[in-house]
Amino acid sequence: MGTIVSPSLLAADFGNLQRDCEMVNRSEADWFHVDVMDGVFVPNISIGMPVIKAIKRHAQKPLDVHLMIVDPSRYVSTFRDLGADILNVHYEACQHLHRTIEQIRQAGMKPAVTLNPHTPVEVLEDILPDVDMVLLMSVNPGFGGQKFIPNTLNKARRLRAMVERKKLNTLIEVDGGIDQTTAPQAVEAGINVLVAGSYVFGSKNPIETIAQLKKL
Ligand code: DX5
Ligand code: ZN
Repeated sequence: MGTIVSPSLLAADFGNLQRDCEMVNRSEADWFHVDVMDGVFVPNISIGMPVIKAIKRHAQKPLDVHLMIVDPSRYVSTFRDLGADILNVHYEACQHLHRTIEQIRQAGMKPAVTLNPHTPVEVLEDILPDVDMVLLMSVNPGFGGQKFIPNTLNKARRLRAMVERKKLNTLIEVDGGIDQTTAPQAVEAGINVLVAGSYVFGSKNPIETIAQLKKL
């Protein structure tokens, strides 16, 4: 399987959300990356339930929902009802991560755990077999258009080695500052899912930009 591409709608034109969703439908992208922020876990507030409902009406590919909210276990069934297919919760936001992961799977979604740039991948040693994907933040979460943190590549290599040592199929996703320079570096370090916001939606030809990422 080639590289999975998950365009981040945070960089879409919210006045033309249907148009941008249809562009992603037509493209070679695999998923829709949807960023939810609460202004507490991260210093920004993005989109909430009514907007996700609108996205789900137009999106013809799975929703890869990234929760940047405190205590995400409170909202697992809500996001299932909204149509999330993959639910990413932050390691740093969960008091009882194992329970939250089980809740997500029982609700019928694929559980993923997300790490902030400062959190070492080694904390995943005992939870890795229970998740379908790990999302490595390559910027501090909260905003699009930030610069890729190079140490993410070291983390990706260490996590890839851990996945192989345990003989798992865990996907490794990266989010933040992905562009024509950092995307190939990430793939080379063992990443198989690329999130890209401003690089895709800010490009002249987003369909072509997505096609280029798919080739990596
Ligand atoms: C940031 C979000 C990202 C964001 C990435 O907190 O999680 O998904 O949209 O944006 P770019 O690709 O522009 O760095
Ligand atoms: Zn994200």
